[in-house]
Amino acid sequence: MQKPDQPDWNEMAKTFDAWLPYIQPLAERLISRLDLMTGMKVLDVACGTGEPGLSIARTWKGDVDLTGIDTAGAMVDVCNKKVKEEGLKGINHLVMRAEEIGFPDKYFDRVICRFGVMLFDDPVKGLCEMVRVLKDGGLMTFSVWSSLDKIEAAAIPFKLLAKQFPEDDQPPEPKMASLGEPGILEKLLRDAGVRSYHIEPIILTYIFSNPEEFWQLVIKSGFSKENYERLSQEKIEAWHRALILDLRGHEQDEKVHLTNEALVVVVEKDGI
Ligand SMILES: C[S@@+](CC[C@H](N)C(=O)[O-])C[C@H]1O[C@@H](n2cnc3c(N)ncnc32)[C@H](O)[C@@H]1O
Repeated sequence: MQKPDQPDWNEMAKTFDAWLPYIQPLAERLISRLDLMTGMKVLDVACGTGEPGLSIARTWKGDVDLTGIDTAGAMVDVCNKKVKEEGLKGINHLVMRAEEIGFPDKYFDRVICRFGVMLFDDPVKGLCEMVRVLKDGGLMTFSVWSSLDKIEAAAIPFKLLAKQFPEDDQPPEPKMASLGEPGILEKLLRDAGVRSYHIEPIILTYIFSNPEEFWQLVIKSGFSKENYERLSQEKIEAWHRALILDLRGHEQDEKVHLTNEALVVVVEKDGI
């Protein structure tokens, strides 16, 4: 297998929202562990098309001061459009790398990040920065995906897609699963000097009316787009057929159930 890979996030800004309803329970878990209070300053790192920051802004209606940052300008544009359309208050989005957060030390009361850390070019540096801008005693919650075999909604389409390529041209494993193997996250936290934390697994079950509905989501969301765009129409059809067949094995009560494990990390900054 080649080095793990990730998509072009500026391109993905057009289609990423297709996944949001499926991963919303995770936004709620991350927010619930933040113990938010009126007047707090909150940073949403790798905010993508706005989550979980926008969920906070919708609930708190200007009573917390939110900043979302992301490296992809097109993602930040989507956030700004949503803020304008919904008339949300107290939220600001900026193009900024997690590895170089342009805010002073101990500036934020809370830091949150859903599915960003495993994609950073330098996860230790990014995590150090997230801790640096957090006040002493402040809370940070973030999530990463578990290993690929525990993310059915990614592993099934990815492995069947890989089968459409010759042995010497296999697509790289998605970077989304790069921190999921046992011990990797703990090492990362140690390397970033984080001492006070706990990790909770969470299962996100995606339910589809039928296998075709999941296939449509795979295509609509641009899943592994950079790889399947290299396939002939014939190979795409073979991938489609293989996926539909595989998903029949995941049917319960006439619906397709796909279970996906993520890891939720809760950090309390202890003055490091
Ligand atoms: C899977 S999306 C998650 C978006 C959003 N947090 C959510 O859960 O809906 C990952 C995001 O991380 C951003 N990203 C990747 N590397 C980054 C970095 N080094 N600093 C900031 N953002 C980064 C990407 O541009 C992308 O928008």
